[in-house]
Amino acid sequence: MSSFPCLVRSSTRGGEARFELGDPLVDAYLAFVAGRARANTLRAVAHDLKTFFGVVGKDPDEVVAADVFDFLALQRGDRTVIRISDGESGLSARTIARRLSSISGLCAAGVWCGSVWLTTEEAETHPVVKEKFLAATSADTVRSRSRTGKPARQLRSAWTDEWEDAETPMPLGMPMQPVLVDAALQRIDRAAHRKGSGAERLANYFVGQIVGTMNQSKSAAQVVYDMIDEFIEATQSLARQLET
Ligand SMILES: Cc1cc2nc3c(=O)[nH]c(=O)nc-3n(C[C@H](O)[C@H](O)[C@H](O)COP(=O)(O)O)c2cc1C
Repeated sequence: MSSFPCLVRSSTRGGEARFELGDPLVDAYLAFVAGRARANTLRAVAHDLKTFFGVVGKDPDEVVAADVFDFLALQRGDRTVIRISDGESGLSARTIARRLSSISGLCAAGVWCGSVWLTTEEAETHPVVKEKFLAATSADTVRSRSRTGKPARQLRSAWTDEWEDAETPMPLGMPMQPVLVDAALQRIDRAAHRKGSGAERLANYFVGQIVGTMNQSKSAAQVVYDMIDEFIEATQSLARQLET
């Protein structure tokens, strides 16, 4: 990664500007921006990301929230820049907000989420498991090798409890554990709709700790709208903090 972040400007065959920084994730994001934003926005995003990664000195997949906050603090106190408007040092709130927007755009493009879709109206999740997810708290998940042979976070149920029992043999490895348990899991799913049955107690599925916030079944579109609302709320709150 020695050349990252090195800003290279080139042109596509169609004559449109293309910016690359030398990292596949970041360059894919810049290509995404190029397809949707005006040339000035693309240039600003490319420069903002070069500045950000130049300062944090990390690979994109190693960046954590604290790096972003450190970066913002540094930008506010940047003594190498004197503003013409008021003669003060540090970048203007508007420039910092734009840089933050460039960084959060990159992060949003890299979001990886799974569990949140499992309780949507469209999800093919077993209805009994869906109800369990909606009622579960974040403490109701467990990392268990019981389904696949590899550790995977899932809903705690009589199934995972039985596999955790000290008297129970250890799960096999991958791929032998699925060979061992798949038929049993299918039978559990088929019988789980019977209220009060052992199968109902055993039924579970993969899910992350975010299950604690999945309390209401909604459409997949609504999940996306909620994410957008949260994003707007978070960026507005950060912008307010930058102004104070
Ligand atoms: C139903 C389901 C199946 C998954 N299967 C795998 C898998 O086979 N391999 C893997 O590395 N991660 C798997 N994951 C984890 C996701 O790749 C992703 O890291 C995780 O779901 C993101 O966190 P979140 O579920 O809290 O949003 C799975 C997640 C879910 C919900």
